[in-house]
Amino acid sequence: MSGPRILAIETSCDETGVAIVSGGRRIEANQVASQVAIHAATGGIVPEVAARQQLRWMVPTTQAALEEAQVEWPDLDAVAVTCGPGLIGSLLVGVSFAKGLAMTHRLPLVAVNHIEGHIYANWLTDASASEPLPPEPPFPLLCLVVSGGHTQLVLMGGHGRYRLLGQTVDDAAGEAFDKAGRLLGLPYPGGPAISQAAQGSRPATRLPRARTAGSYDFSFSGLKTAILREVAGYRERGEAIPVDGLAAAFEEAVVDALATKTAAAAEELGVAAVALGGGVAANAALRAELRSRLSEIGVSLLVPPPEWCTDNGAMIGAAAGFRYLAGDQAAPSLEATPNLALPWLAA
Ligand SMILES: Nc1ncnc2c1ncn2[C@@H]1O[C@H](COP(=O)(O)OP(=O)(O)OP(=O)(O)O)[C@@H](O)[C@H]1O
Ligand SMILES: [Mg+2]
Repeated sequence: MSGPRILAIETSCDETGVAIVSGGRRIEANQVASQVAIHAATGGIVPEVAARQQLRWMVPTTQAALEEAQVEWPDLDAVAVTCGPGLIGSLLVGVSFAKGLAMTHRLPLVAVNHIEGHIYANWLTDASASEPLPPEPPFPLLCLVVSGGHTQLVLMGGHGRYRLLGQTVDDAAGEAFDKAGRLLGLPYPGGPAISQAAQGSRPATRLPRARTAGSYDFSFSGLKTAILREVAGYRERGEAIPVDGLAAAFEEAVVDALATKTAAAAEELGVAAVALGGGVAANAALRAELRSRLSEIGVSLLVPPPEWCTDNGAMIGAAAGFRYLAGDQAAPSLEATPNLALPWLAA
C-alpha cells in the first residue's frame, strides 16, 4: 500500500514548486521554478514581482510535474497547497490554482502550513516504489526550523501536534544571512554566498552573542549591526575588508547560537531525535556543529538533502499525505493567510 498520491503546490514566496508525493513519503515528481536570478538583480525579493512570476510559472511547473511522474488526473487522490505563512500575492496564486484544480478534477483539497512543510521534508524519500521505505522520524521530535522568514524551535509530539518552544525575537536566521551578505558586498541570497566565503577561512573576529539565556528564543539583529560596525571600521582605517574572515565570524556566531539552544532543548526534553528544516538547514557548518553537539548527548540529527530544505512542493506533499490520512480536508472557501501560525496543539 503506497498511500494517497497527492499533487502538492508551494507558492508562498519566490519559488513555484509542484510535486507529486505518495503516502506522505515517496517523491514521484518534484519541479521547482526558482526566481533567484530575478531577485538577485534587486538584491532582494520585490513581492509584486514574485507574485507575477508565480503566475507565469504555475501552469508549466504543474505540467512538468505530471509529466515527470507519468500520471494522469484520475491517478491522483488529492490536491494540496500552502495556504500560509508567506507573501499574500504569491500565496494567492497557488491557493486559487489549487482550488480550481480540486474543483475541476473533483479531488479533495488539503491545506498545509508552510512551516509544517519544512518540518515534513524529513519524511521525504526518493526511494522508488519497489524499494523499502527508510524509517520514519521518531516522536517526540525536536524541530529546528531555520528559513528566510522564520527561526523556531518546535517540539513535535506526533503528526500535526506541535508546541512552540522558542523563536527569534527579531530577524530570522536566513534574513540575517541575507542582510550580512549584502553588508559584505556578496551576491544575493547571502546564505549560500556567506557559507562559500567562510569555507576554509578563519573568523576575522569573535562577534558578540545575543543575551537570550533562560529561554529558547533567538536574536540575530545585533549580529547584523556588529558586521556593519566591523565593515565601517575597516573603511575608516582605509584597510581592505576581510570579507571571507567576516563571513566566517558571522557564520560561526549564528551556528553557535542555533546549536547551543537546540542541544540544550534536546537534552532537557529528552527527545527521540532532532530534525532540521528550512533554507538555512542547507548550511554545512550548522549541520556539522549540531551533529557534533548532539552526538555528545546521544541524540541523532535528521537533515533533509539541501534541495528539500529550500522551498519545494514535495515537503508540502509530505505534510499533506499525513493530513489526508487523518481526514483533514480544506473547505472550497480556503483562503491564503500571510501570517498563519502552526496549529499549536499540545505536543
Ligand atoms: N547554505 C546556506 N547557508 C545559510 N543560509 C542559507 C543557505 N542556503 C540557503 N540559505 C538561506 O535560506 C533562506 C531561504 O530559505 P527558505 O526558502 O526556506 O526561506 P523562505 O521560504 O523565504 O522563508 P520561510 O520559509 O520562512 O517563508 C535564505 O535566507 C537563504 O539565504
Ligand atoms: Mg520556506
